[in-house]
Amino acid sequence: MTDSTTAPDREPLILIVDDIPRNLQVLGSILGENGYSVSVASSGQAALEAIAAQPPDLILLDIQMPDIDGIEVCKRLQSDGATKSIPVMFLTARTETDDIVRGFEVGAVDYITKPFVSTELMARVRTHLKIKHFTDLTAAQNRHLQALDDEKNELLSVVAHDLKSPLTNVQLLADMLDHKSESIAPDGIREYAQDLRQSSDRMVSLINNILNIHAIETSSYPLAIDRIDSVPLVERVVNEYKLQAEKKSIVLELAIGSDVGVETWIEADVMAFIQVVSNLVSNAVKYSPYQTTVRVRLETAAGKASGGAAESSDTPKTVVKKILRVCVQDEGPGISPKDQVRLFQKFARLTARPTGGESSTGLGLSIVKRLAEAMRGTVRYEAAQPKGSIFVAEFPIT
Ligand SMILES: Nc1ncnc2c1ncn2[C@@H]1O[C@H](COP(=O)(O)OP(=O)(O)OP(=O)(O)O)[C@@H](O)[C@H]1O
Ligand SMILES: [Mg+2]
Repeated sequence: MTDSTTAPDREPLILIVDDIPRNLQVLGSILGENGYSVSVASSGQAALEAIAAQPPDLILLDIQMPDIDGIEVCKRLQSDGATKSIPVMFLTARTETDDIVRGFEVGAVDYITKPFVSTELMARVRTHLKIKHFTDLTAAQNRHLQALDDEKNELLSVVAHDLKSPLTNVQLLADMLDHKSESIAPDGIREYAQDLRQSSDRMVSLINNILNIHAIETSSYPLAIDRIDSVPLVERVVNEYKLQAEKKSIVLELAIGSDVGVETWIEADVMAFIQVVSNLVSNAVKYSPYQTTVRVRLETAAGKASGGAAESSDTPKTVVKKILRVCVQDEGPGISPKDQVRLFQKFARLTARPTGGESSTGLGLSIVKRLAEAMRGTVRYEAAQPKGSIFVAEFPIT
């Protein structure tokens, strides 16, 4: 196996600890010549400080030192979770068999005898760096798998919990219709039917949200990016929520800025754009108190460098001349700084609860953010004055 298969992203850092300057020099130059970064410490105390400041990938540690000896340094490293996994190779005289045994007992992975034989030293160093590299890789993969497992468990418990209540409702209504169908007036049947419809809508919306998230995460969400005229789409969404708003005596307004009009073509997927705006308007209506106003505003602004997730420094930036801004402002409770941290995460059912008994899966905004970013857009939250939320979605104008 070549070094390149095991080399980490940066040059491995090796710390040499020895109280004899000559040993530091010899080892340092051998390792340096072989392309490793080297740091040195001439006492146990200095070694512990150097390790805390910048954990190395491997430590070559002299056993016999005046203050804290190598055995003690190794014990302390082993007892600390942050340093436990750094491999330690002892430096010892060929005759000091007791030291070698004690070294292994306190957790050393190997030893090198003085005087050093350069080829032997390098062979052992390479081996232990390789082992360390693969151990780190396995640990990172395990952490990733654990995170996926936690997420899957959360998904299962949320789905089970959220499906249980509408399903129980469906069962109850079915029983009523089954046992009391003769005594129920036609109006009652209609009410039952509406109830059934509401319960099944809740289940379908949960399942659709989960399927959407899954599709976005696995990059299989079918986005057909095209030049689309955004204003009629926003008008359509606002009209769709008028009735829902009216039921809560909420005034739902749409204001189109005078700068918007001719330049309203954006590059986006029609359904995804509708989904972004719908979720924001739906939230504003859902979390607003009765008899308040929800304002949807369309305006344009000067663009800035952007590319997918605009924050990422890895993403190539493209210059966008102008952006379309969709602002959805409500007079509800707003989002507390603590809630803002989780706002766009999955299953984020936060402090605000629906004011009219609407369903809430906590998935809407996580979908909105991912969809907007997949269309080179952004979504953010701003606090409204004197109270309420403003959700701002921005898309590049073509
Ligand atoms: N306009 C808003 N005002 C106050 N709180 C809000 C607002 N929008 C969202 N929230 C809070 O953020 C949480 C997450 O919102 P999100 O849209 O992701 O999910 P949801 O509305 O609960 O469910 P879904 O959108 O999937 O039906 C909500 O549960 C709510 O607590
Ligand atoms: Mg929502």
